[in-house]
Amino acid sequence: MHIMALTQPCPRGWLNELDQSSRGYTQAEFWKSLARTCERGLLDAVFIADIMGIYDSYKGSWQPAVQHGVQAPHDDATLVAATMAAVTDKLCFGVTWNTSLQSPYNTARTFTSLDHLTNGRIGWNIVTGYVKNVEDNGMGQLLSHDERYAQADEFMDVVYKLWEHSWEDDAVVRDRVRRMHADPSKVHEIHHKGKYYSVKGPHMCEPSRQRTPVLLQAGGSPRGLAFGGKHAEALFTINPTPEKAAESVRKARQAAVAAGRDPSDVKVLAGVCLIVGRTTAEADEKYRAAREAISLDAAFTLFGGWTGVDLSAYDPDDLIETIKSDGMQAVIKNFTYVDPGRAWRVRDFGEWLKGGTLAPDIVGSVKEVADELERWMRVAGVDGFMVQPYTTPGSHEDLVNLVIPELQARGLFRTEYEGDTFRERLTGADPRLPQRHPAKRLAIGSGRT
Ligand SMILES: Cc1cc2nc3c(=O)[nH]c(=O)nc-3n(C[C@H](O)[C@H](O)[C@H](O)COP(=O)(O)O)c2cc1C
Repeated sequence: MHIMALTQPCPRGWLNELDQSSRGYTQAEFWKSLARTCERGLLDAVFIADIMGIYDSYKGSWQPAVQHGVQAPHDDATLVAATMAAVTDKLCFGVTWNTSLQSPYNTARTFTSLDHLTNGRIGWNIVTGYVKNVEDNGMGQLLSHDERYAQADEFMDVVYKLWEHSWEDDAVVRDRVRRMHADPSKVHEIHHKGKYYSVKGPHMCEPSRQRTPVLLQAGGSPRGLAFGGKHAEALFTINPTPEKAAESVRKARQAAVAAGRDPSDVKVLAGVCLIVGRTTAEADEKYRAAREAISLDAAFTLFGGWTGVDLSAYDPDDLIETIKSDGMQAVIKNFTYVDPGRAWRVRDFGEWLKGGTLAPDIVGSVKEVADELERWMRVAGVDGFMVQPYTTPGSHEDLVNLVIPELQARGLFRTEYEGDTFRERLTGADPRLPQRHPAKRLAIGSGRT
């Protein structure tokens, strides 16, 4: 079972008095302490979410996001990863980075640097972005949904060429006699010319332990899934039930096969929130407190950020069928699936979102939560979980102190780390990408010039 724990460099769940993130996220010591906790729990990785603009659809303004602390203010995920990595040896990091708003050349450099500094413990959560106002801030242009993925496909070609083709493994010779630090004949330009990018190369960095970071992705649309099936080594899905997650797993594996890969080349992790107590009563009390800390305005702000739909135009008691919006249809479909017979109202969206995530809650004693995770593994066929927090570091501590020992006692989770790099941890194989991965068609020795 693979387990990653989600975090984000911003306030998350700050209305809950047990949460420390709103004061902590600007403090290096907060991140170091969280890293030590996650490494003590032998988690695969910490997953660091990131966005590059303030949500501003709700009430047509960024002010609700700032007022309610909805992923605003927000720091930079790569720097948090570097801070957490500095106090750990084995814990890995999935770092979110945006293909629509970054340059591939700089991306390759940033991730090679992170992979150097962590000795191969870096993964990249590839996102195409959805916050429109980045354009107002001179950060580039967001193309239409599907074209963003077409752009991202080309972006991946460029970074693959830089990571896998540009520097040969033995290019750096450090030969004082020949006065040669690196042998230029073993460092190659990439000459990429495409629709969106023109990059000559060579890559600025010598190869890192993994060369290409572990590739993570969470696209849910058909186009997003095709992208994930081609590139990702682990995909995240959010589904309300394990039965529904089983469909996502099937689609993810099909997408991998369609891209010429093995179905097991893509691990699928299900997003879940765990609310666990030493007893059922303690868990129920924690859950009650967490639900009380939900602000409807905050949830609507988040919803607006994700979909562009401003729910302030509706009464919280309006039935959701009355809302007319193309952007909303997919979300409504997914939402009503939980209980198709029920009359869903606008306020139900807010309560479901909990101000943070659509991932389902698993609430109970240690035994009950472990039973439920086992059921998800069995029914959905997922490879593990992306655990999302209600509070930080409380949710992470509960995972590590309560849930992990129970999973270990059941023989479901590792009792020591094996392999040093993220890719070894995830696949049990080599630190470098497997030959079947499309990036390898662009690698040194692949015949491309
Ligand atoms: C667990 C999880 C974490 C995500 N983290 C981020 C993130 O940090 N930043 C971001 O821009 N998008 C993030 N997303 C959004 C996805 O990258 C993607 O845009 C979204 O799932 C919609 O995909 P689609 O456009 O293919 O339907 C996340 C999604 C999931 C399920």
